Amino acid sequence: MTDATAERPDPATIPAEAELAEAGLRLEIDGAVATVTLNRPERRNAMTFATWRGLAAIGRALPSDVRVVVLRGEGPCFSAGIDLSMFSGGGEGFTDGRDAQATDAFIAELQQGYRWLRDPRIVSVAAVHGHAIGGGFQLALACDIRVVADDVKFCMKEPALGLVPDLTGTKPLVEAVGLSRALELCLTARTVLAEEASRLGLAETVVPRDGLGAAVDELVAALLAVNPGAAVATKRLLLEAPENTLEQQCAAERREQIGRLRAMFGGGGSS
Ligand code: ACO
Repeated sequence: MTDATAERPDPATIPAEAELAEAGLRLEIDGAVATVTLNRPERRNAMTFATWRGLAAIGRALPSDVRVVVLRGEGPCFSAGIDLSMFSGGGEGFTDGRDAQATDAFIAELQQGYRWLRDPRIVSVAAVHGHAIGGGFQLALACDIRVVADDVKFCMKEPALGLVPDLTGTKPLVEAVGLSRALELCLTARTVLAEEASRLGLAETVVPRDGLGAAVDELVAALLAVNPGAAVATKRLLLEAPENTLEQQCAAERREQIGRLRAMFGGGGSS
């Protein structure tokens, strides 16, 4: 599901449960809601290259009637980020960067695990509790909306390990908190707790730890109550806004509204 205009493939291509389990993932689809669980609690949901490939495979195969995707973590935290064994060559495809072209392609493939969460046909919701470190923080940033528990601990650890955040997180981070704050957070690799996360715009909602599931359910119900076609068109419009001039954005609003009016009154159905 990387191209927003493409048809979604046959749902039969959803990876098998065992394959996802091997990648530390669990997928549950209940009508219009897909829940993706990071499911290696004994490793604090540390993510391997297989995890990111598994996420990408889920994105490619998501049934067309899914409208909301929830990302959550099993156990004490959302995710401890990359499985550190990947750095010692413990992951298929590990590259030391000497072949720039191959490394570029390798990272691009892993980024696909995150990019589909911005597809206008879905709304992605990160339900974050406990630690969300490095690639885990970036996964939360890849989602449209973050609902966090009051024990959340966000940390962009990569620069402290000699790396840059490369799982799509730098753009949403700068958009959420501004350049100066993003620099400060990344280059100190300090931990941001719930109250500050809310104040900085890293979390839309903060709830007590034992109320996270209920808060997400409530949000999902509200998202599903909106007209599906209007939801897709509005997300598409909002995604364009940061790059557009006012002129371009006004034109985009007119274009999307024409589509909506036709769908509602022109015999094109309500979708
Ligand atoms: N990779 C591999 N294994 C991990 C990771 C990880 N990122 N994080 C935790 N684990 C393992 C631990 O080694 C430990 O294994 P063991 O039971 O065999 O000893 C188990 O998970 C539990 O970890 P603890 O540290 O005991 O759990 P605790 O709740 O006390 O701490 C915390 C959790 C804070 C997440 C800590 O484990 C930690 O700091 N992990 C490393 C985080 C990190 O540096 N991630 C990389 C970020 S950069 C990026 O993502 C690109």
